[in-house]
Amino acid sequence: MCGIVGYTGKKNCISILTDGLEALEYRGYDSAGITFATDNGLQCVKACGRLSVLKERIASLAVTHSSCGIGHTRWATHGAPSDLNSHPHSTQRLSLVHNGIIENYREIEKMLLKKGYTFTSDTDTERAAKLIDWLYSLSSSPISALLEAEKYIKGSYAFGVIFADIPDKIYALRKDSPLIVAKHSDGSYLASDIPALLPYGREYCRMPEHTVAELSGNKITFLDAMQNEVSCEYESADWNSEQAKKGGFPHFMLKEIYEEPSALEMTVERRIQDGLPYFEEGFLSDELIGKISDVRIVACGTAMHAGLVGKYIIEKLSRIPVTVEIASEFRYGDPILNENTLVILLSQSGETADTLAALRHAKAKGVPTLAIVNVFGSSLAREADFVLYTMAGPEISVASTKAYSVQCAMLYILAIHLSLVKNCINEENARALCHTLCRDLPRSVAATLALNDSLRRLGTKISSAEHLFYIGRGIDYHLCVEASLKLKEISYIHSEAYAAGELKHGTISLVSDGTPIVAIMTVPSLAKKTESGVFEVLSRGAEVFAILTPETEADCSLPDSVERIVLPHAEEWLYPFLTATAVQLLAYHVSAQKGLDVDKPRNLAKSVTVE
Ligand code: M6R
Repeated sequence: MCGIVGYTGKKNCISILTDGLEALEYRGYDSAGITFATDNGLQCVKACGRLSVLKERIASLAVTHSSCGIGHTRWATHGAPSDLNSHPHSTQRLSLVHNGIIENYREIEKMLLKKGYTFTSDTDTERAAKLIDWLYSLSSSPISALLEAEKYIKGSYAFGVIFADIPDKIYALRKDSPLIVAKHSDGSYLASDIPALLPYGREYCRMPEHTVAELSGNKITFLDAMQNEVSCEYESADWNSEQAKKGGFPHFMLKEIYEEPSALEMTVERRIQDGLPYFEEGFLSDELIGKISDVRIVACGTAMHAGLVGKYIIEKLSRIPVTVEIASEFRYGDPILNENTLVILLSQSGETADTLAALRHAKAKGVPTLAIVNVFGSSLAREADFVLYTMAGPEISVASTKAYSVQCAMLYILAIHLSLVKNCINEENARALCHTLCRDLPRSVAATLALNDSLRRLGTKISSAEHLFYIGRGIDYHLCVEASLKLKEISYIHSEAYAAGELKHGTISLVSDGTPIVAIMTVPSLAKKTESGVFEVLSRGAEVFAILTPETEADCSLPDSVERIVLPHAEEWLYPFLTATAVQLLAYHVSAQKGLDVDKPRNLAKSVTVE
């Protein structure tokens, strides 16, 4: 949520900053800005709207070269998107960019008003900038000013700061919001996320919290709260810059859906060895698994919906009761946990604030925690007791697609493992299930991509709808929930998911002539039940589209007026993956046909690092 980039060194920082902001625009795109050093002091340029507006302003500047600067792309929290509220926020002494939320910014403002400061924006960030400005006026040390600011600030922050009297250095500090730095032969780089740095190399260092990083052209120094120099471990990104590009697809979302077969293959292959689930030494021990009485899966948005698929498979195979919870509710819900509860945190980014808070809550209760994340070394990965990495590669589109599929796959593998250890299935069964995951899953999803044209045509039919319902039962209902989120977040069509049997308990009153309804019917034992719901809505004038399997199509007797999408044949327990790919493609085509910004839907950001 919001993107930060910074550079100091031999090259021209202005193009590095704008390229970096372009790579991070998926983190926030309400407005953007940069500050860079010039012979006449710091120059700041900001613009409300997409990055292209900022670029136009930069193109009209007299100064075209600078060796040190910081930039920001914003997702508004405090104050509407506007030039004034955009970052960087500057004073005579400094310019600052910020990701996160300063919770006590009103208190800080009150204190600063007494010291003669005034404010021009609605942002919490301006208060932080002026707090650091005041502290700098007292100490003349950027490091002391930043460390001292931590004593005043409550909330989450990743700061990048340039001081006017030290124009060749960037200072950075973070708490609960990610920041990475990289040192290459030409200079030092700062960013909130890996894609901004990938064009310059794969080595980076994840900044520790409560530590100031001082970036100069030839070195990066880290100083802890006592101002002692500390070291920081460098890591190598397992993504390359090609993966973070569109690769010929019109949108990242479509590219990422098409990457699902390979992402699934990579995720599954890594975790299945010699035909059985494989986990490294130090993973959940058999003894610990033996004691697990229940599982809580905690996550947000699409990741939470992957948790619903996880519930289905874990309960089906291991009979361990699973509850799936929204992380923002879990953290304040006083959840009843015991030492035999396993808490699983699911997240693509590994930085989602509510999921991280849920993890900390569970850890404080002494409960074993397992994070399933896609980003190596992310906060969740580092803080959880156990971690499993999904292998989706970078997911740039705000709408999560391949990350959802690989989260589901990881939960399938985990379910097989739990069941085997708990003696709910024997080794032969486990081998057969693993074989299906390795051999059939990627290719069944690849075969689903062949439905792209049919789904585009279906997209045309629903693109003018104002409201739409997804209906299904059992696991199909859980897929409806994700299908509905995907559609509404990128097409702005109001959509709801309903358990088909629940319609007649209220919702059917909303069905009238032409109401579009997508029925997901992939479970043989439930398809006939959903079919009854379809007949009920057809009698009220609904226009119904059905997603079926060859088996359920043969079994049901839907009237010709119901348009069908028939998934390729697969084993029944794999259909959630095929359905997911189909509904993602459908949502994609609706959004693309409406001419919307598919990858950057309004009001959203990729990684929600604020509460
Ligand atoms: O990075 P995370 O997986 O923790 O993100 C969780 C949600 O914010 C995310 O899945 C969101 O719902 C997506 N935009 C949905 O497509």
